[in-house]
Amino acid sequence: MRIIVCDNYDLLSKKAAQIIGSQMILEPKSVLGLATGSTPIGMYRNLIKMYEEGLIDFSKITTFNLDEYYQLPIDNDQSYHYFMDENLFNHVNINRENIHIPNGMSDDIEAECTLYEEMIDNNGGIDIQVLGIGNNAHIGFNEPTINFNKGTHIVTLEESTREANARFFNSIDEVPTKAITMGTGSIFKSKKILLLASGKNKAEAIYNTVHGKVTPEVPSSILQFHKDVIIILDKEAASLLNEDDYELMSEFTKTK
Ligand code: GLP
Repeated sequence: MRIIVCDNYDLLSKKAAQIIGSQMILEPKSVLGLATGSTPIGMYRNLIKMYEEGLIDFSKITTFNLDEYYQLPIDNDQSYHYFMDENLFNHVNINRENIHIPNGMSDDIEAECTLYEEMIDNNGGIDIQVLGIGNNAHIGFNEPTINFNKGTHIVTLEESTREANARFFNSIDEVPTKAITMGTGSIFKSKKILLLASGKNKAEAIYNTVHGKVTPEVPSSILQFHKDVIIILDKEAASLLNEDDYELMSEFTKTK
């Protein structure tokens, strides 16, 4: 686990984009795992700028998004399909056929989950997965629970998650109660993971991710066992860590 602390959100966003951009330059056919939420928006802005400057090319890139609300039409401006178009896809030369986002409108959600997992595997797995983190340490929409969910599945959102996401809707009543998400297992299979967190309200979740007990009650804690995780934080999100933690390599990583 490598932890990079930045002075502010702008620098966090630039560094994150540089890491994704490097992956794309080194492997133009990369499979990127993408996230929504407010945290990666700055990274997407920087990626668009890098594309406009001719530094990166999306034409052979494949993407898989982490999650989507259940039964929220994709043309709803709060759907994650809409979010990705607005914040990235409409501005770069990605081949639409290479974009994958779970279909929360499917009539057969079980089949959709199985298919999504198969598509990730058939594309050779995810080279680098971007993650935000919920205040309750959820990753994707994997809420605190009694066991780690392996594959893509349907989940009932915690009230605290619905409250946190209500800021994007007209009222909390409009926030869906369910979502379809890649499982912690699907995320863990990614070759590299890039977790981003900004702001004081993420500090506790970050502390628990780095130092807490590995437990499905803190879904992000599983990342302690992954061999290639980079966490980029601003000072507020890092405020409960010690300086010794920065650039920390976990014991697990060292022995690999
Ligand atoms: C949502 C998403 C997560 C995201 C989280 C944090 O619940 N499903 O993928 O990490 O929100 O969002 P934000 O970055 O807006 O704090």
